[in-house]
Amino acid sequence: MGRRIALVGGTGNQGPPLAVRWAISGNEIWIGSRSAEKAMKVAGEINMILKGLGSPSKVSYGLNREVVRMAEIVVLTIPFEGLSSTIEDIREGLRAGTIMVSPVVPCKFDGEPQLIRLDKGSVAETVAEMLPGMRVVAALHTVSSKRLERYSTPVEGDVVVCGDDDQAKKVVMSLVEEIPNLRALDGGGLENAHMMEEITVLLIKIGRIIKKRDLGIKIE
Ligand SMILES: NC(=O)c1ccc[n+]([C@@H]2O[C@H](COP(=O)([O-])OP(=O)(O)OC[C@H]3O[C@@H](n4cnc5c(N)ncnc54)[C@H](OP(=O)(O)O)[C@@H]3O)[C@@H](O)[C@H]2O)c1
Repeated sequence: MGRRIALVGGTGNQGPPLAVRWAISGNEIWIGSRSAEKAMKVAGEINMILKGLGSPSKVSYGLNREVVRMAEIVVLTIPFEGLSSTIEDIREGLRAGTIMVSPVVPCKFDGEPQLIRLDKGSVAETVAEMLPGMRVVAALHTVSSKRLERYSTPVEGDVVVCGDDDQAKKVVMSLVEEIPNLRALDGGGLENAHMMEEITVLLIKIGRIIKKRDLGIKIE
């Protein structure tokens, strides 16, 4: 079933390939930005990619606070440092019960990637506290944009999905599995989200040490 998905900050690395993947699988996609011009430009680029891939789908666009109004599912494809200001910006437009997907990794780069330790334990729990009444699901931390961008190659790896609302979690797990070859694994409640956020920082660190970018995880 096609769903209405808004990608808040969908103009960066992670938003466009997710938009392409989910548009191809039949969802209605809205690209959000702080700038209407940037949203329009990136949506145009995504539509060119879709055309090149032979898909008739097209994505729409708008300001972050506008695109969330249409959405059943909002994906926060923004860096951690923009979280608070973005949530304040979109708060009014959100409908009660909206599924909020957080792939956000609490990481800062001071030369080296550094985990940011949060009072609430995880970004996802922070979002849940900031947005009562929304159904927050943590997912997609360990899938790099570079892997998602290789449209002719199946994306190998597992995606651990955490959330307290089982129905919302199932919806997000099925969206993950619309991306060919990705496997979604139920990671339990939102209290487990910190482990996925933290392991992603570790993956970035390991990638730098072994000089291999875009590492993922496979649970066997
Ligand atoms: N990149 C990956 O491979 C990857 C993989 C897994 C998870 N993630 C996570 O997914 C999230 C998005 O990653 P990304 O690489 O796509 O990020 P990004 O390219 O750095 O930023 C995405 C978009 O966020 C908006 N933004 C940037 N700074 C902001 C701020 N201070 N306040 C509000 N909005 C801001 C920008 O959109 P506008 O200027 O258009 O508003 C930007 O295009 C991050 O939390 C990251 O940890 C990334």
